[in-house]
Amino acid sequence: MHSFGYRVNALVTFAVTILAMLCAMASLSDNLNVPSPTAEVEVLNINWFQRQPNGNDEVSLTMNISANLQTVFTWNTKQVFVFVAAEYETPQNSLNQVSLWDGIILSKDSATFSIHTTNKYRFIDQGSNLRGKDVNLTLHWHVMPKTGKMFADRIVMAGYRLPEEYR
Ligand SMILES: *[C@@H]1O[C@H](CO)[C@@H](O)[C@H](O)[C@H]1NC(C)=O
Ligand SMILES: *[C@@H]1O[C@H](CO)[C@@H](O)[C@H](O)[C@H]1NC(C)=O
Repeated sequence: MHSFGYRVNALVTFAVTILAMLCAMASLSDNLNVPSPTAEVEVLNINWFQRQPNGNDEVSLTMNISANLQTVFTWNTKQVFVFVAAEYETPQNSLNQVSLWDGIILSKDSATFSIHTTNKYRFIDQGSNLRGKDVNLTLHWHVMPKTGKMFADRIVMAGYRLPEEYR
């Protein structure tokens, strides 16, 4: 004779097992999803470009950031953190990364966008390395799943050159 308690216990164990399986399947199906996102970051204008009194270069840009990250979304996606960075090399560092803009995408519907904006965060170099500098404008995204581990990827738009002179 199975007692009531035994049956409840068996039911809970079963439910937990199913839940664990669903979680595993969710992160597995996430791994099987092959996203094909697209992105384009276009510099529309250099608003100004100067050397600060402390010797650091600073530039203000107007950009057109467009992306379609809809294929990154699965039913297991909670939200996607996205940011645009300027990446460049200097004699001191092989990789300098300056975040210019960021945002959080909460749904697949809003994962396709085109934003006309000036840099949200200041683009300052630790030194005066920016004149004529080749910069990669890079769109990064971090996918925060409902269950399973976070993953990140990026699209690099290489070879944007900053002006040779301050203005
Ligand atoms: C921004 O880029 C998108 C896609 O390339 C384009 O459709 C749109 O016209 C651009 N907007 C501006 C202001 O350049
Ligand atoms: C910029 O992009 C190019 C091409 O993807 C790459 O070879 C180079 O290392 C990148 N530069 C930096 C500083 O990340």
